[in-house]
Parts: sequence; C-alpha cells; structure tokens
Amino acid sequence: MVKVDKFIPKAIDRIKQQASDHTIIALSGGVDSSVCAVLAHRAIGDKLTPIYIDTGLMRKGETERIKEIFFDMNLQVIDAKERFLTALKGLEDPEEKRKAVGEAFIRVFEEEAKELSAEYLIQGTIYPDRIESEGGIKSHHNVGGLPSVVDFKAIVEPIDDLYKDEVREVARALDLPEEICERMPFPGPGLSVRVVGEVTEELVEVVREANAIVEEELVEKFHPWQTFAAVVGKGTGVKGDVRVHGWIVAVRAVGSRDGMTAEAMELPWDVLRKIESRITAAIPSVARVVYDITPKPPATIEFE
Ligand code: XMP
Repeated sequence: MVKVDKFIPKAIDRIKQQASDHTIIALSGGVDSSVCAVLAHRAIGDKLTPIYIDTGLMRKGETERIKEIFFDMNLQVIDAKERFLTALKGLEDPEEKRKAVGEAFIRVFEEEAKELSAEYLIQGTIYPDRIESEGGIKSHHNVGGLPSVVDFKAIVEPIDDLYKDEVREVARALDLPEEICERMPFPGPGLSVRVVGEVTEELVEVVREANAIVEEELVEKFHPWQTFAAVVGKGTGVKGDVRVHGWIVAVRAVGSRDGMTAEAMELPWDVLRKIESRITAAIPSVARVVYDITPKPPATIEFE
C-alpha cells in the first residue's frame, strides 16, 4: 500500500517538474481525475485549467456538483450535450456507440486544448487501466486516446502506479468530499451504455431518473460495488384499463472485488418493491421494472 503522506509531496514535485506551463486536465468527476486535478492545482495553481465536458450522459445532478466541488479551480464547463446526442443518433451497436462517444469526447477536448493553447496534459490513468488497455477486452472509452490527436509537449500521469483503493486513500488525504472518494465506477461512455440500443434524449432522461432512485435506495444501505438502472427495451403494461407499451427498466446491483467478476446482490424484497414503485410512479413511460440476477460471467456488469 502506498504511503499517502510520502506520495502526495512526491506527486506534486513530479507535476511541477513535468508540467511547467499551461496545463489542462479532463475532469470527469471520478476519483482518479479528481485526485489528479487537486494534485496539479497544488503543484502549478492557475497554470492548470480543468475541463469538464458535459456530455449530457452524466448522472443526475453531477454537473452542478462538480461545479461546486471545483469552484476554486478555474474550471471550464463545456456544454456538449447536443453534440453527443447527434453523434449517437441512429447507432444501435454497443461498440459503435462507445466509439462515437469516445470520438466526440476527443474532438471537443481537442478544440478546447487548442483554444487555450495548452502545452501539457494531465491524465488520471491508474495502474489497472494500463493492464486493461493492453488486454484489449473492449474499447474502453476514457481519455486514454487523447495523446495521439493533440500535440502536447508532455503528458503527465501522476497516479499511474496506484491501484484504485490507493487512489481513494489519497483522495481522502487531499480532503476531497466522501462522495468522490467512495464513488462507484461509472463507465466513460456514461448513460449511453445504460440505454440498450439507440440513445435518444427521452431515454437518457428515463435512465437518469431511474438511476438516481436506484442509487438513493441502495448505495448507503447496502454498499454495492456498483448499482444502477438501465433501459433494456419495451414491454406491455396497463394504465387504467388501457394496454400501453412502455419502457422496461432493469435494476443491477453487484458485489465485486475488481469488476472482472461479479455477483448479483441478494436484496430484500421490500427494497426491490420500493424501487419498482418509486420508478413507475416517477416515470410514467416505464411499464415494468426487473431485477437482473445474472453474475459476471456469463453477463457483464453493464448491459452493453
Ligand atoms: P463490464 O460491463 O465489462 O464492466 O462488466 C466492468 C467495469 O468497467 C466499467 N465499464 C467501463 N468503464 N469505459 C470505462 O471507463 C467503458 O467503456 C466501460 N464499460 C464498462 C463498468 O461500469 C464496470 O465497472
């Protein structure tokens, strides 16, 4: 385990030496990029511009919260919602969707980097990211693809030797809010992989709202490794005495050590019932709510 009190000053020194001028970082609100942003801000202060791209595929309240947490850091918030929706239009294949989000992300970031004449890039790559990218299991969208398209003098990866639990420990030592230190993994392509098939504005809203309810009911009480909602298709329901065709929302809650394997959590029936009644009451276009009991393997954690 890394010695946090030794790691922090060393990381700050390394950033000072490697990023001597205008530097940017793509802030996602996850623990890795947040830790890097705080370390870099301590190292080079106003020479750092953190950029947060609002893809429209973020969880409920996320953008507002990021603005609050990083208010003292010259944060640039880029509203790119339309751009991401357009990039996803008509796409149904999960890998094509991932690539479309990844490419849109790179393009927006590249434009910002040029506009700011940034010379250095900080990335929140951690040790397992390097291993997974080498393994090539799926096209992981994070900011890993950026260096090939934007010419920086140097790319600095201050936490590339750390495991996730070590990053969380550093986050605590840096006084980041607990919600960031403890944040569940969230896929780079965001809510787009939690809408099975084509992503529309309506479906992103459905999944965002359902996801918020699932998190409220499960995160604090059960500490799942990951929990979320996904829209998985359409099914028949009844409203009054009329049959309607509505969305099917699947709830997922898994225990895991590293995301490579996972088990579905055995949740109390009353908790599941409460989630169902809250989702169907809050989102009238949802006709049914199901709970996914499949482990990984054979399923993956996400639906796409
Ligand atoms: P799966 O669904 O493959 O996911 O069992 C394993 C873990 O990885 C996350 N995940 C992603 N993270 N970009 C990411 O940065 C992605 O494209 C991506 N897809 C899945 C997933 O949330 C889980 O924690």
